[in-house]
Amino acid sequence: MDTPVNAVEPVKAVKPKTVKIVEVGPRDGLQNEKALIDTATKCQFIEKLSDAGLKFIEVTSFVSPKAVPQLSDALDVVKSLPVRPGVHYSALVPNIKGLERALESGIREIAVFTAASNSFTQNNINMTIEESLAAFTPVVERARREGLFVRGYISTAFYCPFEGKIEKEPVLAISQRLLDLGVQEISIGDTIGQAVPKDVHTTMTHLLQYLPLAQVAMHFHDTNGMAIENVKTSLDLGISIFDSSAGGLGGCPYAPGASGNLSTDALVHFLHQQGIQTGVDEARLAEASALIRQVIQQTDGLVEDIGNLEYLGQVTYPPSSPL
Ligand code: COA
Ligand code: ZN
Repeated sequence: MDTPVNAVEPVKAVKPKTVKIVEVGPRDGLQNEKALIDTATKCQFIEKLSDAGLKFIEVTSFVSPKAVPQLSDALDVVKSLPVRPGVHYSALVPNIKGLERALESGIREIAVFTAASNSFTQNNINMTIEESLAAFTPVVERARREGLFVRGYISTAFYCPFEGKIEKEPVLAISQRLLDLGVQEISIGDTIGQAVPKDVHTTMTHLLQYLPLAQVAMHFHDTNGMAIENVKTSLDLGISIFDSSAGGLGGCPYAPGASGNLSTDALVHFLHQQGIQTGVDEARLAEASALIRQVIQQTDGLVEDIGNLEYLGQVTYPPSSPL
């Protein structure tokens, strides 16, 4: 195994004074809501998020519109958003076709996504982990050549809905592969919200011996109400990038049992209580969350569940082979 790179041992890590929040509500949130929300309302929501001081907003996905119909207006969303100094918009991209659509939209940051379990990647993007890494290679190369910032998600990094507990070694191996491809930030995801602080501590202490701290983000879901506890553990390890979703929207349509993301409102409030700066105005954030919750309530129930959910859980998969 490689030599640890970090000069600072994670156990002696310094709790950060400021954090980077990556707001994923318009993407991770809305992709899992039944409601099909119109483009203008999505843009209004995104503008309210940046009015509240959020600087990193994942606004949509350039995935197959058949897979995630809620985000099929990705191009229009990005094109409709105003350029705001200091505000970074990003979008998910699964393949070259997605990258071409992203480039056409003018967006400057993208995220590729894989998982630490083969059953999950198979369900989510119809590829094994290896196939997904192979598919991302030309995507990341071209994106970097075009000067885009590239993030990489690793879903199911602690627990998988199909395979149960995920060990730390494959998570590290996939993180390293993504960094080698040219990915600049890795988001480690507790996609179904099953991790407890001990899991976070075990996996992340291991990863941070090898990965640059400044490039590691945490992505928690709040299924069991443990997300803030997991943030606390991550902060103690020196981690300073967190994904969250305004109003706690979301989940993942391909992960049975994934409930809402860690709410940005709860995250910001908690961080401020800890004396950690976020640059976010809590009252204005509450307005953004209230807007989207109200729209979802009004629209929900009018559309059917999206297809893939129906067969989830009925398919059995072989265990993931370690990378
Ligand atoms: N943008 C738009 N359309 C796309 C696309 C993209 N990025 N990628 C594929 N498509 C279209 C193809 O053109 C094809 O359309 P057609 O049937 O009209 O010819 C269809 O989607 C299937 O394409 P294929 O390459 O065979 O892909 P697939 O069916 O194996 O699906 C993914 C693979 C990755 C494209 C798809 O599973 C996907 O987009 N998943 C996203 C899941 C997601 O967002 N999950 C939440 C994030 S955690
Ligand atoms: Zn998520």
